[in-house]
Amino acid sequence: MAATPSTNAGATEEMSPSAELMRLVNAYQVSQALHVAATLGVADLLVDGPRDVASLAETSGSHMPSLYRLMRALAAVGVFHEGTDRVFSLTPLGACLTGDAPGSRRNYARWIGTPGQWRSWGNLLHCIRTGESAAKFTCGVDAWTYRAQNPEERAIFDSAMTGNSRAEAEAVLAAFDFGRFGSVVDVGGGQGHLLRAILLAAPALRGVLFDQAQVVATAAPAFAADGLADRVEVVAGSFFDAVPAQRDAYVMKAILHDWDGREAIEILRTCRRAMAASATLIVIERVVGPPNEDAERKFSDLNMMVQYAALERTGPEFRDLLAQGGFALREIIPTRSPLSLVVAHPAAGA
Ligand SMILES: C[S@@+](CC[C@H](N)C(=O)[O-])C[C@H]1O[C@@H](n2cnc3c(N)ncnc32)[C@H](O)[C@@H]1O
Repeated sequence: MAATPSTNAGATEEMSPSAELMRLVNAYQVSQALHVAATLGVADLLVDGPRDVASLAETSGSHMPSLYRLMRALAAVGVFHEGTDRVFSLTPLGACLTGDAPGSRRNYARWIGTPGQWRSWGNLLHCIRTGESAAKFTCGVDAWTYRAQNPEERAIFDSAMTGNSRAEAEAVLAAFDFGRFGSVVDVGGGQGHLLRAILLAAPALRGVLFDQAQVVATAAPAFAADGLADRVEVVAGSFFDAVPAQRDAYVMKAILHDWDGREAIEILRTCRRAMAASATLIVIERVVGPPNEDAERKFSDLNMMVQYAALERTGPEFRDLLAQGGFALREIIPTRSPLSLVVAHPAAGA
């Protein structure tokens, strides 16, 4: 990616620590610009080839001179390419801002600028001072309740999670063969993208998609479209109450990082109650790395703090958490994405 310049850095100071710090301080401007471009869908308008800003403004319902300034700023950080006469085209980064790209981040970019998420990050200071969730402080209720009360934002959040799963599923499947199991439950599986990918990769496997009723309500047609209707069950419920029992494998992707210790242990214990001693638990999460590196996972950790007063965990933290939930950690398998598979079995006597 092209370097993100600070707004007022001159050529001579671009590499100075001061200019580099300014670039980091102003990173919020890039986030918001990407959010607006994703909301307007301008990258999708470039899929069939370059277009000038006048036609982009007309189709996206935008103020043309302002859209031009947005597009040229994003072109300066490598998201679009600006040619002559204010004509823009997609770069490899911009292609990922289209809705249909395999690694699409369009819905994630739409989500980060929704009022609940954007305003909550504005209260990060509250988290650091108190250890409480900024989302709860900002919205008055926890992030899950807020989204339940704001269906438009919830729909964007759900589609953002699906987009992330689309981008990550391939890496997960390259790292782990689910064909060794006869049945699998995706606990908190969202709209089912990862489960669909797992079932398509393992033709003898049967699956259960388990999530909250409002999330799984529209999941069945996508399984049917992939010819998976007779190999999948869609079950609504809460992982604090019960999950479908006696399957061979239980997958939880991006679930435990949403919850602090007490609730995460409760979720694990719910799974443990449903599982035979021979079953396998596959937790798919970021595993936080050593000091002075691994910014992606460490900022994701801050995001968990802002949203839920929760966290990304290190390997030893996973080992302890799993033990408290009734599991023994067997191995941590990295993938080529930021996610790892944390594989565990019911602990003897648990
Ligand atoms: C961060 S998303 C991850 C979704 C999916 N596993 C993925 O990776 O795309 C967390 C999921 O947990 C689900 N969830 C939250 N509370 C739940 C509950 N009490 N019972 C079941 N699912 C829940 C949400 O609906 C959401 O789909």
